[in-house]
Amino acid sequence: VNSATLTRVPVALGERSYDVVIGPGARHRLADTLRGLGARRAFIVAARPREWLPDPGVPHTIAPWQDGETAKRLGRVEELCRAFAGYGLSRRDVVVGVGGGSTTDAVGLAAGLYHRGVPVVHLPTTLLAQVDASVGGKTAVNLPEGKNLIGTYWQPRAVLCDTDFLETLPAAELTSGYGEIARAYFIGAGDLRALPLPEQIAACVALKARIVAQDEREAGRRSILNYGHTLGHALEIVTGFELRHGHAVGIGTAYAARLARALGRITSDRAREHYDVLRHYGLPTAPPASLKTDSATVVELMRRDKKSEGGLTFVLDGPRGVELVSDVPEGLVLSTYNEMSEAELANL
Ligand SMILES: NC(=O)c1ccc[n+]([C@@H]2O[C@H](COP(=O)([O-])OP(=O)(O)OC[C@H]3O[C@@H](n4cnc5c(N)ncnc54)[C@H](O)[C@@H]3O)[C@@H](O)[C@H]2O)c1
Ligand SMILES: [Zn+2]
Repeated sequence: VNSATLTRVPVALGERSYDVVIGPGARHRLADTLRGLGARRAFIVAARPREWLPDPGVPHTIAPWQDGETAKRLGRVEELCRAFAGYGLSRRDVVVGVGGGSTTDAVGLAAGLYHRGVPVVHLPTTLLAQVDASVGGKTAVNLPEGKNLIGTYWQPRAVLCDTDFLETLPAAELTSGYGEIARAYFIGAGDLRALPLPEQIAACVALKARIVAQDEREAGRRSILNYGHTLGHALEIVTGFELRHGHAVGIGTAYAARLARALGRITSDRAREHYDVLRHYGLPTAPPASLKTDSATVVELMRRDKKSEGGLTFVLDGPRGVELVSDVPEGLVLSTYNEMSEAELANL
């Protein structure tokens, strides 16, 4: 690998600091990375075929895994931990997670729980996981009652974002990742549209690293990463997760623009800028027509958002930049949702 084409973004968290390495062939840094960590052995959990895996340079085992929300549950985490035990995994070894965000979330949780925490290195294979999920230390699995309800903070020791992995990604998954890049435009990453993809990923990771370094456990500032996510999460739930996460975030970002406009926080031009960016990335900007009748349910789901303390809370753009806004009137939340459709763009 030509290291010159790789970008290294540090996540500064004191003695838990680590680097995110981004670019074509980044996975081949694995052996060096593990050597640097003093790893004795590696336990590789792989949702991608064996041929895709880099040489870890230390004795290792490979456990196959599956991406997707169904494998993201506590039962699978227990199975994984039992496999760790069978391998005699210790804190001197390293777990390596290879897959989409669903995989890095579940493998990260297993690593965070086993022996009260063993080192983990992520090799995210989707755009969404590279720009967002694999960085920042949030791990989780789902319950039938809801998504990501069981989790912990467990920072990886390194993240290798190999952009070669993305060549086989289906178009819808690529667009889903662009949903997180589009929302990053409005929370400090700026206009990345003209840059090559690896540079866009690096800019989003740098933004996330900066925010996580200030507020690892979301006591305040980290909540701005949820821009576009309040409606986004509600739409994912209402569609039974048929809507991809990044697509839902795209719609949620358009909604956040409309809501901020309706509250007089931003100009119509700024709201239109949201639509321009979302369209550039091929993202949807309105909920599927079939959901229109369900607006009351959507609003109820938004009320149950983690950020909320009973009222309707959103991350919104405004004169001081993006911030958390509480107690947005329900009537406005509902009417703004009902107005959302491509045809009504002129009313921005
Ligand atoms: N921890 C966090 O901070 C955080 C942030 C955002 C999202 N997430 C989580 O991430 C998950 C979504 O991640 P995702 O979008 O990567 O979904 P995913 O892991 O389900 O992967 C999406 C699809 O892409 C396929 N795939 C993966 N890599 C591929 C490749 N290189 N080529 C071809 N196909 C490939 C998978 O098989 C799967 O079908 C959700 O569970 C979400 O909760 C976590
Ligand atoms: Zn997201």
